[in-house]
Amino acid sequence: MTVIEVSASKNYQVLISEGLLGSSGELISGLVKGKTAVIVSDDNVFPLYGERVKNSLEKSGFAVMSFVFPHGEKSKSMAVYTELLEFLLSNRLTRSDFLVALGGGVVGDLTGFAAATYQRGIGFIQIPTTLLAMVDSSVGGKTAVNLENGKNQVGAFYQPSLVICDPNVLSTLPKDEFLCGCAEVIKYAVLFSEEFFGELMNTPVENQLEHVIKTCVTMKRDIVKSDEFDLGLRMLLNLGHTVGHAVEACSRFTVLHGQAVAIGMCVIARSAVKRGYLSNDDAQRIVSLIEKYSLPTMAEYPIDDMFSAALSDKKASSKDITIIVPRKIGECELVKIKKSELIDWMKDGGVK
Ligand code: NAD
Ligand code: GLY
Repeated sequence: MTVIEVSASKNYQVLISEGLLGSSGELISGLVKGKTAVIVSDDNVFPLYGERVKNSLEKSGFAVMSFVFPHGEKSKSMAVYTELLEFLLSNRLTRSDFLVALGGGVVGDLTGFAAATYQRGIGFIQIPTTLLAMVDSSVGGKTAVNLENGKNQVGAFYQPSLVICDPNVLSTLPKDEFLCGCAEVIKYAVLFSEEFFGELMNTPVENQLEHVIKTCVTMKRDIVKSDEFDLGLRMLLNLGHTVGHAVEACSRFTVLHGQAVAIGMCVIARSAVKRGYLSNDDAQRIVSLIEKYSLPTMAEYPIDDMFSAALSDKKASSKDITIIVPRKIGECELVKIKKSELIDWMKDGGVK
């Protein structure tokens, strides 16, 4: 089993190994005082894995309840969040009890925010079931729900007590969702490691799951340690996201997040070549790796729509934005630009 120690406002471990799901109870039992667990999950994941986690928790002596909501980003809402809090209160959960987030990033973000705020904070465990959640969202303590007109606009930094990654659960993940996780994995390689980039080129992610999850979580752990509250270096993790958000919005969210991030990385890589930050050779290698994982490298939305969509969720008061620009594979830079300049960066990246 791989064990990664995360040190932030709370210290905790990320455990990675095939088959861990069935040992959740044992793994959690030393960490919590209370005797009641609430499994929070969605209606795709709970039927697949809920019983296994419930049985394991019960075997370790916990009383277990479950709160299951419809899958999808729409459920990352104030309405479902409030329902969950009401459920916890009506079942008399106390601060010594705990929540178990069993699912992808939607489940993890919503459960984490409920845990951060219910009775001013109760413990929670992350059991991520998508590749994206394993390599990114379950670690680092960003929790949130969406408002009608803004993603992640209500949230908290609140670290879990433990993260349990069982790569076996990825066998039921739809292919498109798996590939979206691969886009985030490629992002880590472009940001931090040419060697890892080579490994992703030579060996498919599905053939080296534990190694890939371990590598990405270690990279994220290091970033979170140096900038838990997202005031500087952590912004690097937004590589490809400014253009990516624009693609998602222009497609009315028919392009999935990971696909949009893949496009965003390609646009910024092309632009970085034109502006002298990155060699043409490295940009080609980034695009090739993204193609290798059947991810898109360009979207055909008009430049004016893309530009306004990219800025729509940025703070109105600030004239500047920070974009993440690759210098070479394994090294990127935070570059502050005027918002008005973003349109030229997009044009240079091939958006018409
Ligand atoms: P998701 O949670 O919506 O899961 C994707 C789909 O896969 C869902 O339909 C889900 O039911 C299904 N699913 C999950 N695991 C499965 C499994 N093992 N087998 C079969 N089906 C399964 O999406 P996601 O991509 O995991 O997460 C996206 C969310 O994560 C977004 O809301 C995003 O904002 C958030 N996010 C948060 C952070 C953070 O740091 N907190 C980082 C990145 C993304
Ligand atoms: N996924 C971005 C972050 O955790 O900061």
